[in-house]
Amino acid sequence: MIADKNWQEMIEHGALVDISVHYLGETGSTNQVARALVERGAPTYAVVVADSQTEGRGRLGKKWLSPPGTGLYFSIILRPVLPPEDLPKITLAAGLAVALAVEKISNLSLMLKWPNDLLLDGKKLGGILGETVNLPGEPTAVILGVGLNVNSPITAFPADLQDKVTSLLIHTGNEHSRSDLLLSVFTELKKQIQRFERSGFQGILDDWRKRDATLGKKLNWVSREGRVVMGVSMGPDEYGQLLIKDEKGQVHEVLSGDINLAGKN
Ligand code: BTN
Repeated sequence: MIADKNWQEMIEHGALVDISVHYLGETGSTNQVARALVERGAPTYAVVVADSQTEGRGRLGKKWLSPPGTGLYFSIILRPVLPPEDLPKITLAAGLAVALAVEKISNLSLMLKWPNDLLLDGKKLGGILGETVNLPGEPTAVILGVGLNVNSPITAFPADLQDKVTSLLIHTGNEHSRSDLLLSVFTELKKQIQRFERSGFQGILDDWRKRDATLGKKLNWVSREGRVVMGVSMGPDEYGQLLIKDEKGQVHEVLSGDINLAGKN
């Protein structure tokens, strides 16, 4: 059962008139549904949006809490006209796009934490999960999954996360329309991806750096293999890698893994 009126309206009338949108009630993961759609030849910029997910996924195998009626959970299918080495930069472009879109409809200022966390007051408002699909003889497809905490009360989150996460409701005291947000985020995502394809990464990187939540701050980087490096963030470089200068002055180029501000986890 879909709880809020906006969502019901979105399903009945469609917030996005010109594109292929698959509105779901409950699903496993919209990224998983989008992958199946890619395999069936779904068009570029097709969207899968769900009211709730039973197996919502975050980066690095983490779970993404996706209860009904409160959050925005969607995936968009891209087939970027970009060389393979540019694909990791798409999550940065997407993070920028989502921040701009949320700001447009809320008058809030969001910050970004490499590679793709959206922060409000230093707390996590949302995140992006980018996955690629390679089918024989076809251009690489990218599935961009976006999760945003919209109308979630603080009690919707487990106790150990409550000082690390936020939602638009928690921050502003007001409910926000998930359909307006979907339309705004979709429009801005398409704009930033097309900007990347036409004009390259530099402009996106410059805009991203203006919102960099960890620039100059001490942080720990935990590599995929579990190695911990402590240092100061120098921000992302032109390859989309995060540069971290350790105590010996050695600069580490980070393309995957998790980063945490020193003293936090
Ligand atoms: C992260 O911050 O780790 C990324 C979270 C991404 C969550 C979204 S919700 C819609 C899409 N479907 C998923 O299973 N995950 C992404």
